[in-house]
Amino acid sequence: MNRAGMAFASTAFLGATVAFGQNGAGQADQGYAAELWQMMTERDLAGENAVQAFPYAGTDPHGMMLETFYTEATIDGHSGDLVIKRNYGPEGVTVEEVLGAGDDHLASITIMFRRGDGYAPDSGNWFWAKYLPNGSLDRAPDGTPLAGPARGCISCHADADGGDYLFTTNALSD
Ligand code: HEC
Repeated sequence: MNRAGMAFASTAFLGATVAFGQNGAGQADQGYAAELWQMMTERDLAGENAVQAFPYAGTDPHGMMLETFYTEATIDGHSGDLVIKRNYGPEGVTVEEVLGAGDDHLASITIMFRRGDGYAPDSGNWFWAKYLPNGSLDRAPDGTPLAGPARGCISCHADADGGDYLFTTNALSD
């Protein structure tokens, strides 16, 4: 990545970090995020051997190129919808660069996993997490890991059409 690209990326993702602020991930949410990451790597949805989709152009706060996957997953006996978004940058990154050397351009992996009734009824019972490419959790400006009913994610996704917190589809609405 050249220097100009790097500078842009920090600016773009700094904006994202501010928007994601004020989240409070407790130990339970962090442990749950680790279980989710392990399951995703076992299923090649994340990590070194992750399957690829055709990337498409995106914008802040996610990334300049995006891949989105829709599936179901089971964690601790509970099955629910899982939506995975891979976020690539910096601005100007091309489809060819992402397909050819995705790891060099991957900035973060953001996921939504629908947990059971009662987990977070005010926000569709979604579990939110933002991972760095190595599987560790990204952090809000106050240092809190981004996992759980993360307010920064919810405040923006609450405006998604259909009241399901999903921007790209209403197909998973219950
Ligand atoms: C300022 C608004 C905003 C914030 C904050 C935000 N997102 Fe998003 N998110 C979007 C938009 C817009 C899309 C649709 C992008 C596209 O075209 O694929 C999206 C898409 C997604 C998707 C794919 C499912 C869908 O909604 O279509 C996931 C998963 C996701 N975001 C996770 C997160 C997580 C986790 C956080 C917090 C760490 C977060 N988002 C914060 C705006 C936001």
